[in-house]
Amino acid sequence: MEKQKDSFRKLLRFTRPYRKRILIAVTFTGVLTLIGLVPPLLIKRLIDDVVGASRWDMLTGVILMLIAIPIATAGVSFLNNFVIAYIGQRLVFDVRLKMYRQLQRLSIRFYETMKTGKIVSRMMSDVAMVQNMITGNTITMVTDIISFCFATVIIFSLSWKLSVVLLGILPLYLLNYKFFMRRIRRTNISYRFEMDQITNTLQERISGTQLVRAFVKERAETQQFLAGTRRSLNYAMRGVIHSASFSTASRIINGIGSSVLFCLGCYLVIRGEITYGAVTAFMAYAQRLLGPALRFTEISNLIQQTLVSADRIFEVLDAEPEIKEVKGAKDLLPIKGYVKFENVTFAYTPGEPVLKEINLEIQPGTTVALVGHTGCGKTTIGNLLLRLYDPQSGQILIDSRNIAEVSLKSLRGQIGVVLQDTVLFNTTIKENIKYGKRNATDQEVIEAAKTAEIHDFIMSKKEGYETLIGEGGTKLSVGQKQRIAIARAIITNPGILIMDEATSSLDSESEALIQKALRKVLANRTSFVIAHRLSTIVNADLIIVMDKGRIVETGTHRELLEKKEGFYRQLHQQQHASLRAA
Ligand SMILES: Nc1ncnc2c1ncn2[C@@H]1O[C@H](COP(=O)(O)OP(=O)(O)OP(=O)(O)O)[C@@H](O)[C@H]1O
Ligand SMILES: [Mg+2]
Repeated sequence: MEKQKDSFRKLLRFTRPYRKRILIAVTFTGVLTLIGLVPPLLIKRLIDDVVGASRWDMLTGVILMLIAIPIATAGVSFLNNFVIAYIGQRLVFDVRLKMYRQLQRLSIRFYETMKTGKIVSRMMSDVAMVQNMITGNTITMVTDIISFCFATVIIFSLSWKLSVVLLGILPLYLLNYKFFMRRIRRTNISYRFEMDQITNTLQERISGTQLVRAFVKERAETQQFLAGTRRSLNYAMRGVIHSASFSTASRIINGIGSSVLFCLGCYLVIRGEITYGAVTAFMAYAQRLLGPALRFTEISNLIQQTLVSADRIFEVLDAEPEIKEVKGAKDLLPIKGYVKFENVTFAYTPGEPVLKEINLEIQPGTTVALVGHTGCGKTTIGNLLLRLYDPQSGQILIDSRNIAEVSLKSLRGQIGVVLQDTVLFNTTIKENIKYGKRNATDQEVIEAAKTAEIHDFIMSKKEGYETLIGEGGTKLSVGQKQRIAIARAIITNPGILIMDEATSSLDSESEALIQKALRKVLANRTSFVIAHRLSTIVNADLIIVMDKGRIVETGTHRELLEKKEGFYRQLHQQQHASLRAA
C-alpha cells in the first residue's frame, strides 16, 4: 500500500507541467457546476412568483436566464472539455514516451523477466487507466462534491422535512447499487479474463495456422475456440441479467421514492408549509444528489485500480538498467579490432556459470571461428562483447580499453552482428538493410546486398528494394533472411563483426558464394564466426574450440586436426561420419 501511494505520488509529478491548466480546468468546472445548480431555483421562481403571484413583469427576466444559463454553460464546458482532453492526452504522451525511452535503456535481462505482453499492457492500458483517473475522474469528483454539498444545503433550505425523508430513501439506492455492482464487476472480470485467453490463443493459432494444418488440429482447435467462446457468452449473459436487474430495481426504487416525496411535498403545500415551486425545485435537486452519491461509493475502487496501475507503470520506469555507462564514459575511437578476454567468468543465473575463466587474445583483422557443442557458450561470448551483459569477473578489452568504460553507443555502433535468430522488421528490404545506418545511400545498400549475395534475389522481385517482407520477414526463406541480415550487419563497415550461425540455412552453393564474398569483408576486420558446420570455418585464421563454457583448444584447422586426441578432431570426425551416413 505504502509503495502504491509512493508510485501515485511519483505519477502526480508528471502533472507538474500542467498544474496551472489543471487548476484552471478545476476552477471552470466548479463554476460550471454552480451555475448548473441554478435553473431549478429559477423554475421555483417561475412557478411561485410569476405564475403564483402573477408577477408577469418578471417573466422575461426569468425566461432569459433560463435560456442564457444552458447556452453559457455549454460554451464554457466546451472549452473546459477541450482543456481536460488536452491535459489528459499530453500526460499520456509524456508517460508513454518516458516509458519507451526507459525500455530502450533497460538491459536485455529485464526482457527476460518481464514478458512482451506485460510490458505492452503497462504502456497502453495502465497508462490509459491513470489518465482517466487524473483527468476524467478528478473533474467528475470536483463536480460531484460541489453538486452534492450545494444541493444538500439547498434541499434543506427548501424543506427540512422532505430532506430527511430523502436521506432515508437514499441508502436504498446505494444498497441496490452496491449489491448489483459487485456482481456485475465480478462477471466482467471473468468475461475479460476469458476474452484475453481467447484473444491470445487466437493470435497464436492464426499465426501458427501452418502448424495447425500440418497436425490436422482444425477440429480440435475449433472445439477449443467454441468452448472458450461459450464460456465468455455465459459470462456476458450473466452480466446482462445483472445489469438489467439493477436498472429494473433502480427504476422501482426511483419511481416509488419520487412518488412518496412528491405526494409528501404536495401534502406540505396543502398544509401551507412550503410552496409548490419549492416542491418542484426539491424534486430536481433530489435527482442531482443521486449520481454523486452513487459515484462516491465507487471512489475507493477507482483509487485502488489507479494505484495498482501507477504501481505497474513504475515497475517499468523505476527498473534500473543493469548495464550502465560509467560517469563521463568516453567514446571508443575507431577500432582496429584487437580483442582480449581476461579471466572472464559469466553466469546468466547466479551460480550457474556458462563461461568459465575465458582468456583470449585476438589480433586485429583475425577471423576467429568459435566451435563447440550446442549450449557451450558461443553466443554468450558475442553477447558479452556487445556488452548486453557484464561478466561476473574478469574483463573484456577492445584495443586495450575496457569495454565497461566506454560509451555503449561507440562500442555497439562499431560491432556488426548477425544474430542467431534473424530478426527483421515488417518494412521494406531497403529499410531493413539500412537499419544500422539511417543515412546510407542507395548505392551503399546495393553494395552491402551484393556482398551478402542477396542483390540478385532482390532485383528479381517486382518491387526490388521496396519489397515488403511481411511480419518478421515471413515472406522470405530463412536463407534469404540471413543474407539480408548479413547485408544489414556489414553496411556500417564495422570494426568487429559477429556472425552467429549466419550461414547455417544456406545450401552449399550459396554458402560458397557468400564465403567468397565474405572473405573480402572478413579480411580487414576482426570477425567472430560461429558455426556448427565445420566446413564454414576451415579457412578461419584461428579456431577456438569450446566445451561447457571453457576454451579447450585453439589453433588453425590444420593444427587442430593434427592433435591425435583433440576435441576438434573428434568433432570433425563425427561430422564426417554423419555426412557419410546420410
Ligand atoms: N538468457 C539466458 N538465460 C539463462 N540461461 C541462458 C540464457 N541464454 C543462454 N543460456 C544458457 O547459457 C548456455 C550457453 O548458451 P549459448 O547461447 O551461449 O550457447 P551456444 O554455444 O550459442 O549454443 P548454440 O550452438 O545452440 O547456439 C546454455 O546452457 C544456455 O542454456
Ligand atoms: Mg548460439
